[in-house]
Amino acid sequence: MLSRFLTRLIDAQARWARPFGDLNHRWLSALFKPMRFLKDFLNGKWLGHPLHAVITDVAIGSFTMVVVFDLLDVRNAADIALWFGLLAFVGAVAAGFADFTDTDGRARMVATVHLSVMLLAGLVYLVSGLLRLGNPVDRTLPIVLEFVGYGLITIGGYLGGEVAYTLGNMVNRHAWRFWGDATWQALNVTEVREGVLTKAKAGAQSLVLVRQGDTIHALHDVCAHAGGTLSDGFLVDGCVECPLHQSRYELSTGHRTAGPTTYDQPRYEVRAKEGGGFEALRVSSGSARPGG
Ligand code: FES
Repeated sequence: MLSRFLTRLIDAQARWARPFGDLNHRWLSALFKPMRFLKDFLNGKWLGHPLHAVITDVAIGSFTMVVVFDLLDVRNAADIALWFGLLAFVGAVAAGFADFTDTDGRARMVATVHLSVMLLAGLVYLVSGLLRLGNPVDRTLPIVLEFVGYGLITIGGYLGGEVAYTLGNMVNRHAWRFWGDATWQALNVTEVREGVLTKAKAGAQSLVLVRQGDTIHALHDVCAHAGGTLSDGFLVDGCVECPLHQSRYELSTGHRTAGPTTYDQPRYEVRAKEGGGFEALRVSSGSARPGG
């Protein structure tokens, strides 16, 4: 009941959030384009986990401590926690901007509402922090502002949860894919040409195959980042590059070598099948649960 009401409330923001989101998407994409290393870092490729989710916890935790310290009238601790929270907040915004450039559709719209609320909260906290400088006797206004900020942060956190948990942004596309023991599965292709991305089916799973000499490399065809089709992508330096957001996975290992993905790709072993054709066995689930 409550969630349906909130969903309608979020959807009602689409009129301004869609164009505003598209505008932000354009300038942020242009900004990050020449700085791929920085974007990969902010996405969390090095961490194997979306960085934004980590830093937001630090910021929200710090702002929670400000509430506690202010209620106890521990002034110095409250002020330090507020400025520390603002520092983490800046990091969270930077990481969020990097993730935002790979959103589309409804996820981009909801993310726009999320970032708008969060930026407003950050502004309110900044004013609260500035009003605390010099340790004024009357702290009513900074404390009122802090509570307003905390309310906004709570709403913004809910919206961020919508983007991640309901819309699956930055969630590993293979998280629940595998179950049971991996077994050899016949492939529906009889020819894999040298250096050409070849799409194949192994039972219910789609694979992308590449022959390099006597070896046939095989990865799952669905990009772990956001479901792009790797067999529609490109071969670059021993990696397959996703056509959607240019994540790269090493063919021989499935390891991520370029973001925005923060996950490795499931990998398969391929061998010739008795009587002709090929068969494949999943040897790595990437960053997903092994599932047998
Ligand atoms: S779907 Fe985003 S990089 Fe593949």
